[in-house]
Amino acid sequence: MLNFEFYCPTRVVFGKGTISELGRLIDRSKKILMIYGGGSIKRNGVYDQVKKALEGYDVMEFSGMEPNPKYETCMKAIDLVKKEGRDFLLSVGGGSTLDGTKFIAAGAMYDGEDPYDILTKGIRVKSALPIGDVITLPATGSEMNCNAVISRLSTNEKLAFDSEYVYPRFSIIDPTVTFSLPLKQTINGIVDTFVHTMELYCTYDVNTPLQDEWALGLLRTLIEQAPLVLKNPQDYETRANIFWCATCGLNYWISLGAVQDWSTHGIGHELTAFYGIDHGQSLAVVLPRLLKNRKKEKQVKLAKLARQVFGVKTSDDSEAADLAIERIEQFFNSLGMKTKLSDYGIDAREAAGKIRDRFAERGTKLGENQTIDAQVSYDIVAAC
Ligand code: NZQ
Ligand code: ZN
Repeated sequence: MLNFEFYCPTRVVFGKGTISELGRLIDRSKKILMIYGGGSIKRNGVYDQVKKALEGYDVMEFSGMEPNPKYETCMKAIDLVKKEGRDFLLSVGGGSTLDGTKFIAAGAMYDGEDPYDILTKGIRVKSALPIGDVITLPATGSEMNCNAVISRLSTNEKLAFDSEYVYPRFSIIDPTVTFSLPLKQTINGIVDTFVHTMELYCTYDVNTPLQDEWALGLLRTLIEQAPLVLKNPQDYETRANIFWCATCGLNYWISLGAVQDWSTHGIGHELTAFYGIDHGQSLAVVLPRLLKNRKKEKQVKLAKLARQVFGVKTSDDSEAADLAIERIEQFFNSLGMKTKLSDYGIDAREAAGKIRDRFAERGTKLGENQTIDAQVSYDIVAAC
């Protein structure tokens, strides 16, 4: 096991009716900016619950944070925060709204010229406004981590940053709010969670049996709960289990002392940046081809996964790894998730060329062994 340090200051408030706890979680003196997306919270009653819980508070609103949150939108919110002296940000929505809020929190306190430099130049964030959230979509784990992914319209870029200053102070997870999710978003979230677990688990073995058990247990739970939620989207217990899988899929608990990958996300983000496909869709397309391409590097963990998640019996690791990759794609397909670029009207070779050129320019190297360079990325995407 490698050395590690774990820190997560987020208070998780989980369960039915927990939005009413907001008043307990935010100090009454705060000048709140409530940030939300395109209006789903108004249709499913979440907006009303938040307003009720914050009666008597000083709350301003900023709406219109889009899926794959845009730098341009965040900059408008940063102007508002500064102009109105807001000192607490409340995100009410999915991972996009929360990621946008994290960038706003850091950007509002940024002392350089343009907060975009945090994304492009790797400038470390030195402070941020406090954040709380009501998370409405199980997928990103953003509610219990310090990452955010921001897109820029003018350059077709999608870039990530992390900083311990943007951990939410609290996250309210009320699974009943997910009853209103469109089927597509439920499926995207399950795939995103699955792939987060793969990025954290499926690398090379450094003797972390407990962490492996947690990761494989997470995958088994997802595979067990997914058909239940498709059959009965209004079942609270299933929604609760799926939400907790999503949160634990990317709070980094399952990867402590282990080696991480993140190449499927690195390539997937480019597909979203160039073609606008959903985050979950991009991952479902890339993961099976990437695992095939890097099978030798991941064989031991793939074989373990094949046996412990899919009940594969063969003692041959290479064969077991192949079966794991096949079963993962079958699982995605069983949810109705399409796993080929052509299913989304995208030409694989064209996409591969664009990504190769961009990675070559940036000198990108991905994966646990840094072996996925521009050319390997081309090979992976061309096979998608
Ligand atoms: O905008 P509204 O109207 O709220 O509608 C949203 C949006 O259209 C809707 N929605 C959310 N909760 C709902 C709901 N509709 C009905 N009922 C509800 N309860 O769903 C749509 C998608 O929402 P979005 O927030 O975009 O989805 P998600 O949570 O999957 O977030 C995706 C973004 O997170 C980034 C992705 O790259 C992408 O930009 N990621 C963030 C990570 C992190 N911070 O750690 C890690 C991930 O790997 C990922 O990269
Ligand atoms: Zn993801």
